[in-house]
Amino acid sequence: MPDILKGYVELVYDLNNNPSYRFFEALLYNSEFYNDSLQSISMWITENDDRPFVLSTPRVDDENTLHLEIPFSHNFIDAVSRMKREGGFVSKVRSLIDLDKKQEKVFNTFFTETPPPPYEKYEGDKVRMRYFGHACILIETKDVSVLVDPLVSYYGYQHEVSRFSDMDLPDTIDYVLITHNHQDHILFETLLPLRHKIKNVIVPGSNTGSLQDPSLKLMFKQIGFNQVIELREMESVEMTDAIITGIPFIGEHSDLNIQSKLCYHMQIGEFKILFVADSCNIESRLYDHIHKIVGDVDLIFLGMECDGAPLTWLYGPLLTEDLSREKDSSRRLAGSNYERGKALVKTFHPKEVYVYAMGMEPWLKFISSIKYTDESNPIIASNKLVAYCEDQGLIAERLFGEKELLYNSTLDEVDIEPILNNRFGPFLTSDLHV
Ligand SMILES: [Fe+2]
Ligand SMILES: [Fe+2]
Repeated sequence: MPDILKGYVELVYDLNNNPSYRFFEALLYNSEFYNDSLQSISMWITENDDRPFVLSTPRVDDENTLHLEIPFSHNFIDAVSRMKREGGFVSKVRSLIDLDKKQEKVFNTFFTETPPPPYEKYEGDKVRMRYFGHACILIETKDVSVLVDPLVSYYGYQHEVSRFSDMDLPDTIDYVLITHNHQDHILFETLLPLRHKIKNVIVPGSNTGSLQDPSLKLMFKQIGFNQVIELREMESVEMTDAIITGIPFIGEHSDLNIQSKLCYHMQIGEFKILFVADSCNIESRLYDHIHKIVGDVDLIFLGMECDGAPLTWLYGPLLTEDLSREKDSSRRLAGSNYERGKALVKTFHPKEVYVYAMGMEPWLKFISSIKYTDESNPIIASNKLVAYCEDQGLIAERLFGEKELLYNSTLDEVDIEPILNNRFGPFLTSDLHV
């Protein structure tokens, strides 16, 4: 073993006598190997959704972009993000960072004296759910707010696909739920500007110490999230009027042993929701076992990106040996197809089924690079599932853009009537900062 890693790694055998190792991840974050001077943020005013693809595109400074060499944990990010809604002194937030003359000029263009549209906290006695695009859903009661897989358009502008943006988020988010460690479910661009309003982050526990499955708890703590709760399968977190339980998430990780993936079961009063994310229901008996414990649910949110990228698209750099093309393309990041989705519906008997997490919204192009046609497998599969559910008398839809749903949470009002309310109208702000 290279000398440099000594004391940070334990060498082991598995029960088949294959050699393996584990890292002491918590120590590595306090070592020379965690170098937060490599982190930086870049800010610019945008008027459209066109962005270079996130994983492969170098960022080059230009005259309208402010590139700040600051770590993700820096309090400037909280201070400036807070000013999107609360007025403040530019000089105060400016004093938190070093800027040269050129940068200062760009920085000053970010601010306005026009206040944003006011946000009205939900005060009703129902459960309000808002779909922000992809797998991001905000669940609010008058007592608690929960944001699943935050991926929020951080700007709004007039577009044929209307959207909720960060302006539609409450001032306090009690819990953020993270389903798994793929870049369309954990996006720093959304998470860091929301950090000042997030009270708790719930993440799935990992393998601890393996390269392909880093600890999300340690990662979030390191970048400045103070209250991070690690949840394991079938463990629950109780909040004011809801219980959230981690549910096994299977597959969709190229058959690698990655455990930091969880579906979530959320119960508010008698109302039960299952967020399945990208779990690929390859063995439906898993969810039969789970059904025996949690019972039927009212709503299922299911991702159906059933083609999926090949293993090397995401995990290639971690492999020590080349993988044949055949193996690479058979080990994919694929979610549930029609049959697997249908099996989930048959198991949990939901009243409503929403296909989500399809990467289709125009503001996601820079992370998903997906371009579907009517002939694409995920579209065919999800159309079939929606049709199947409708045949069964269920409400079903593939979500796109934005959606608001309202539900009763009490037993004596079991007639769940979703109020569908696609919101229209231009957003008042098209700039990045107030
Ligand atoms: Fe995924
Ligand atoms: Fe996904």
